[in-house]
Order: sequence, then C-alpha cells, then structure tokens
Amino acid sequence: MSYEPQLEMAEPKLVPGITQRVFSGIQPTGNLHLGNYLGAIVKFVALQATHECVYCVVDEHAITAQHVQPELPQQIREVTAAFLAAGIDPAKHIVFNQSRVHQHAELAWVFNCIARLGWLNRMTQFKDKAGKDRENASLGLYAYPSLMAADILLYRATHVPVGEDQKQHLELTRDIATKFNNDFGGRIADLGLGVGETNGYFPLPEPIIQGPATRVMSLRDGAKKMSKSDPSDYSRINLNDDGDTIAQKLRKAKTDPEPLPSEEKGLEGRPEAENLVGIYAALAGSSKAAVLGDFGGGQFSAFKQALTDLAVEKLGPIGKRMKELTADPAYIDSVLRDGAERATAIAAPIMNDVKDIVGFLR
Ligand code: TYM
Repeated sequence: MSYEPQLEMAEPKLVPGITQRVFSGIQPTGNLHLGNYLGAIVKFVALQATHECVYCVVDEHAITAQHVQPELPQQIREVTAAFLAAGIDPAKHIVFNQSRVHQHAELAWVFNCIARLGWLNRMTQFKDKAGKDRENASLGLYAYPSLMAADILLYRATHVPVGEDQKQHLELTRDIATKFNNDFGGRIADLGLGVGETNGYFPLPEPIIQGPATRVMSLRDGAKKMSKSDPSDYSRINLNDDGDTIAQKLRKAKTDPEPLPSEEKGLEGRPEAENLVGIYAALAGSSKAAVLGDFGGGQFSAFKQALTDLAVEKLGPIGKRMKELTADPAYIDSVLRDGAERATAIAAPIMNDVKDIVGFLR
C-alpha cells in the first residue's frame, strides 16, 4: 500500500502574488517518535511533489530548555537522517541546520521588538515547558515562538506542515507578520517591496494540520500527547525502534474492554481506541472511518496485530536506513552544509530587505 496523503491546502492570504514555499522544522532534542513522523515528516515528504520545500533541524531551539547538551551534534545528524530515510530529497529541496544560517537569529531579534509581551504570555507551550518554576526558565524559552516566526518568515514561506501542538505558534507567526506589514507599511511601499493587493512584505503562512494523526497520543495514556520527554519509553514508538520493540509496545498499549466500534462516533470518550485507530489510518494513508469499516466489531487483539504488521512494514525500512545514514556522518554533514548554502541564498536577500525596511544601514 503506498502512502498518498490528501493534502487540501488553503490559499495563503494577504500576499497572493508570492511564490508558494513550504517551511518546517524539528528540534534535535532526542529520539524522533511516531507523533513527529505522522504529524510532520509524512507531510514533509508528500509536499515535495507540489512545492519548493525548506526543512530545518532547529538546533537553536534545541538549547532553549537545556543549554548544555553534549549529544547535540549527534542528535542534529539523527534528525537529518530521519528526514532523508523518510524520503526527503536533499538535492531537490533544502535540508539544513538552523544555526548555520545566521539570519534566523537576526530576524528573531527584529521580531522580539515587534511581538508584544502579552502575546508571548499566552503561549501554552511555554507554560507547559516552564512548569511551576517559571522564574528559572531561560529567556530563550520565552522568546522561542519569536525565533520560530523568524524561521518561517525568513523564507517568506506560505505553508507550514506541523502537528496540532504548533497551531498557536503559527497564529503568533501570523500576528507578527501582520504587525510588521502594518507598522512598516509606509517603508515597504516607499521601497517598492510590497507584494500583492495589500502591499505587505510577509505572507501570512497557513499551517497544514490535517489527516487522522495531527495529535498522536501516548500509548500508555490517551489523554497525554506522545512526546520525547515522557519518562516511559513504552509511551511512544521511536523511529529507530526495531520490529520486536514496536510489537511489544503495541501489545502493551492501553486499550479499553469494549470491541472496536463500527463508526467514528463510537470512538467518542474512548481516547486510547481513537488514538490507535488514528495511527492505523495515518500509516495506511486512509481514514478512521475506513479503518473502522474493516475492524469495527472486532476485538483489540486482532486489531493490534494488524497495526503491528503495518507499523513494522512502514517504519522498519526507515529505522534501518537511519542507522545506515548515521553511520556515515561525513555524508550527513555534507548534506547540511550544502543545504545551508542554498538556504542562505534565499534568506540573505530577505534579511537585507528587512534591514532596509527597519532602517538599519548595511
Ligand atoms: P517539535 O520538534 O516538538 O516537533 C516536530 C514536529 O512534530 C510534531 N509533533 C506531533 N505531531 C502529532 N502528534 C504528536 N504527538 C506530536 N509531537 C510532535 C510537531 O507538531 C512538529 O510539527 N516548535 C517546533 C519546531 C519548529 C518549527 C519551526 C516548526 C521551530 N521552528 C518553524 C515549524 C516551523 C517544535 O518544537 O517541534
């Protein structure tokens, strides 16, 4: 079964004349898991057929929570290996690590001066990550969404494939772009840098959050998101887990005593069942309704076996390829260096425009 996600995309607003470009990023902060794969990477791969894509290993974001990370170089290579193993073509599209393109940090500074404290105070991810000890969180963690807006707008990207947990950050990105376009409207027009009917400089990027697995939940608790930071490895399937491990984790995955329903409505109030059905649908490139059409009325044991077979079939080759690629760090490094050069070729003129708009002499 080949995977062909149906990605219906909203047209980017505000700057209709601008080139459509996809940008997304993943943090190198630990093992990638099934949530990252189904929520993001699968879409990255699919969008290559229709869009110019820029995919970034966001190493500057990775030091916001923990600034001392001896494993960082290895983790940057691992995420890159996952991109390539999943099917991203670094010759046709751009794959690089953020810190190599200094314009990300430069634009983030400008955005720090545009975003309002009130906006950042509303970010739920900051609240979650900072926890109770907010006074002790880094300034970088607080400003994280502003750097993320810079990542996206530095390429004047129009579409951003992400999981549901990034939705609020995308809204903030649009707010920053809108405020920049408005506040500097006069300069943008004087310099002839506006695009489209509204004469804005930045497009308002559209998130691409769709499909049956935009929020993959923990295998141990259907109320919790699958995440790298969960202390239990049984809560997630890692992209580099072998077949036996995947089988064991799915066997132990929490379920409920009822048989699977035949219709989607029957999944309401059954988060664990809904999660497993969503994972199956996303891996199979189908829908929850279709999966329930096949498995509805049956017991979890048979469904889990089918899910295990499917997961091993889809993820096994990716894990294997990741191992081969990480065994050749020189190759990975060459991909990232080349990608950074090509990313800079897009980013540098945009940052120069921003400097002209703001009024910096250069
Ligand atoms: P990160 O590194 O936490 O996650 C990478 C991507 O995986 C998605 N994801 C999930 N999707 C479904 N279910 C889950 N359980 C799940 N867990 C993670 C995330 O939504 C994300 O798409 N802030 C970003 C990184 C970033 C970025 C950017 C993304 C920095 N700059 C610019 C897009 C554009 C993050 O922390 O993702």
